[in-house]
Order: sequence, then structure tokens, then C-alpha cells
Amino acid sequence: MLKDQLSEEELKILRRSFEIIGDIAIIEIPDELISKKELIADAILKKHRHLKTILRKVGEVNGVFRVAKYEKIYGEETESIAKEHGCRFLVDPTKVYYSSKLSTERERIARLVKEGERVLVMFAGVGPYAIVIARLSKAKEVVGVELNRIAVEYFRRNVKLNKVNNVVVIEGDVAEVVPKLEGKFDRILMPAPYSAESFVGLVKGKVKAGGFVHYYTFESENNESMLAKKVEDIFLSNGIIAKAKFMRRCGSFAPYVNRYVVDLEYLGEKE
Ligand SMILES: C[S@@+](CC[C@H](N)C(=O)[O-])C[C@H]1O[C@@H](n2cnc3c(N)ncnc32)[C@H](O)[C@@H]1O
Repeated sequence: MLKDQLSEEELKILRRSFEIIGDIAIIEIPDELISKKELIADAILKKHRHLKTILRKVGEVNGVFRVAKYEKIYGEETESIAKEHGCRFLVDPTKVYYSSKLSTERERIARLVKEGERVLVMFAGVGPYAIVIARLSKAKEVVGVELNRIAVEYFRRNVKLNKVNNVVVIEGDVAEVVPKLEGKFDRILMPAPYSAESFVGLVKGKVKAGGFVHYYTFESENNESMLAKKVEDIFLSNGIIAKAKFMRRCGSFAPYVNRYVVDLEYLGEKE
């Protein structure tokens, strides 16, 4: 659409893909093209007529809350409703983490959950894992723990919006909340802000034997073949015997660095 308005050099550095969250588009424009931002926004709006806002990412996802910095290119409203798997998520990406790129992974996990399971979602954000699981499975209870107060507010509103009655929302730091949770879980998800390594000790004694932990981490492609063993060793050094049963890439982070999930069967604790 822009081939008659931008030079060949400019077209080469133009980012072609972008994320859409409800009626908000999140785009990246290199500094060299910033004088063309109106042209770029117009082209996007011609193709995606429902958009109300276009945000330009000006800083990477950062800090404990994993929120990036944005500049408004078009529109004012930064709150929107994202849809996935028949669920709706009210979210403001300028204040809380949410990524539609993980929706396939959320569905994968939800389909693994068996009737009657008790599930814990650490780092729950605005609730997409917890709510997709509650909607697509017959879990008995899904507990979500999140630190960002604004994300917790959205999480509570999303529980109501999706009319799920088996989701328990807890505001707090997983390091303080998880040790106090009573009983064991059939499944614990660890979609941690960076690597989940420093949080592994928290799941010790919290999963039933034969239950599962879904461990998310970032790793270089070169180390992919060693990752399952590396994660099993991390669990062992935390006193947990766990066997990696499945592993997949579920996103990219930087060139040759991907987000991976490792599904581990929880076998017990070391004497
Ligand atoms: C990568 S995001 C994942 C959010 C959500 N699971 C999703 O898929 O949209 C990590 C989340 O962990 C939260 N977080 C970071 N440190 C935490 C902690 N110590 N305890 C609880 N939540 C934490 C952040 O605020 C952020 O919402």
C-alpha cells in the first residue's frame, strides 16, 4: 500500500507485521521513518477499519510488570477488549501486560486440563490463562496470582465479563502468596516475567504426584536441545523430581532467542 509513497530504502526498514489488541494496533516505526508516521497510520487504517487507536512502541517490554512504553500515533483510547477462544479480555496495554501471541499456547494448556483439576496460574496478568482454562475445561478451581494492582483490577473485571465462577483472583507477590496457599494443585503454570528459574522453589510440595508444571523461559536456539535436561536439573536443585514430557517454542524474543515452554511431570520431592 505504501510502495508509491516510500522509497525502496524506506520500504526495506518498514516493519510489516504488528499486533492488534481489540481495536488497538501496536506498531513499531524505526526512527528514520518517523516523519512518515501519518502515511503509515493511514495505510493501516485503510486495511483495518475497526481500529480506534494506533500505538507506536517506543521502548521494549520492561520491568517487573512487563509493560512497554508507547506513543499515540492515532486516537486517544488505550483500553480495549481482546477476543480469544470465545473469551473477552478488557485490557490497557499501556498499563498491563497482554499479548495475543500467546493465545495458541493458552488453548493448548486449557485442552490438557482434565475434569475436576485444581490449577494455579502464577503471574496471571489480566487473567487470560486462568479464564481460557476455566472456559474451555472442566477444572474445579483455577487460582491466579498477580502483582500489578492494575492488572488485578482488569483480571477481576474479566472474570465477571466472561461469567466464570471457578476462578479465584489473588493480588500479591507469588513469593509471599504461594507458600500460604492450602492444599496441592494438579497443575501449576509459570508464565514468568523473564526466566521462571528463581521461582521454582515455590512449587515444591504444591503439586500432586503425577501433576504437571508448565515452565516458561527464554533460551538461545543453540541451546534448545539441552533445555529439557537443564530445566529438570533446575527442579532437582530445588529439591523437586520432575520429568520433562514435552517442550515447544511459543514465541520469539530476540534474533535466535525464543520463549519456550517445558511441560514437566511432577514426580515428588527429594528426601
Ligand atoms: C509475562 S507476564 C504474563 C501475564 C499473563 N500470564 C499473560 O499471559 O498475559 C508476567 C506477569 O507477571 C507479573 N509479575 C511479575 N512479578 C510477579 C510476582 N513476583 N508475583 C506475581 N506476579 C508477578 C507481571 O505484573 C506480569 O503481569
